[in-house]
Amino acid sequence: MPLYLDPDDLRDFRDRNQAPGALLDLVGAMAFRAAAAAQRLGVFQALRGRPRAAAQLSAVLGCSARQLAVLLDALVAFGYLERDGNAYALGPAANPWLDRTAPGNFAAALAVWDELLGSLWTGMEEAVRSGLPREPYYPWLEKRPETLRDFQSMLAGLARLLAPAVVEAAPPLAGRLLDIGGGHAIYSLAFCSAAPEATATVVDLPGALEEGRTRAEAAGLADRLTFVPGDLADPIDGRYDAVLLFNVCHGLDEQAGRELIARARGALGPGGIVLVLEPFADAPARPHDTAFLRGFSLNLAITQGGRLYAFDEVAAWAREAGFARVERRALAAPTTDELLVAWEDR
Ligand SMILES: C[S@@+](CC[C@H](N)C(=O)[O-])C[C@H]1O[C@@H](n2cnc3c(N)ncnc32)[C@H](O)[C@@H]1O
Repeated sequence: MPLYLDPDDLRDFRDRNQAPGALLDLVGAMAFRAAAAAQRLGVFQALRGRPRAAAQLSAVLGCSARQLAVLLDALVAFGYLERDGNAYALGPAANPWLDRTAPGNFAAALAVWDELLGSLWTGMEEAVRSGLPREPYYPWLEKRPETLRDFQSMLAGLARLLAPAVVEAAPPLAGRLLDIGGGHAIYSLAFCSAAPEATATVVDLPGALEEGRTRAEAAGLADRLTFVPGDLADPIDGRYDAVLLFNVCHGLDEQAGRELIARARGALGPGGIVLVLEPFADAPARPHDTAFLRGFSLNLAITQGGRLYAFDEVAAWAREAGFARVERRALAAPTTDELLVAWEDR
């Protein structure tokens, strides 16, 4: 957390309850919004490796020197910047975490979540009352090309970090793979790289597939990946040895999730498997992960009509679909994502 509280300060909020906890949340909300605005204005990029005074920076960024100075001082208090005399430099919360070139960076996530909180989350009351998102997430995203790019970049960043651990934790996959909602194609490419005879069909919305195509060509695997624009609710054509449902079930309500797994089961040849990858609601997690996952689940509920499901809920859908054996596999990576493997035989 960019705002570092000393232990006594924290005890006033937590143990002694002498100050409203919501005040800390307010500071967190202010800090997040200010960091996202600074990122869009180019503050962090302009300060990379080059501390500058507010006046200099305002000339470079084309901002009001007076307003920018106030923003910079707020960012110092929030922990994103450091100030030495008149010079502002990147603080640890910005460097390396908001550097788009750093592995595992948070820059795209900051931009996406800022847009989400400022837009779709304002419809939370309506969504909770009615049970329906005010505006469904993916159509909303398609109307915002910059946020769509950031969303894809956030997903791709996570997938690049996790793909080796996912391939290692999964049973060896060969033959024909179907990657539903597999847009960026990083997981399909990882499985195809691990098994030279494997081919993959990636189904997703048209905008999401562009990135996958480019990536497959860059990896020299374009001849083994097929990209099919389609909807998660479409009937599945063809016979496959494995179906990947990676981070898609939690975007669906219970009925649609159950139906998707049943359709995936119906598309398998003999001995085929379904793999589900996502954070389960009962994931063993550290307190900050648990808090994030509950917020993420709320986001899924109010923007997509989904939520995080417990492993046993998804396993029950798989058993109802006719799978005889369902296994839970952890990943050897710093993540709350886990794999569910559904097998036809025992
Ligand atoms: C959370 S992302 C997961 C992407 C990838 N499988 C991964 O794990 O990184 C969900 C994916 O499902 C796709 N998607 C969402 N709704 C869809 C729909 N109705 N039909 C087809 N694809 C959809 C999105 O475009 C996106 O690529």
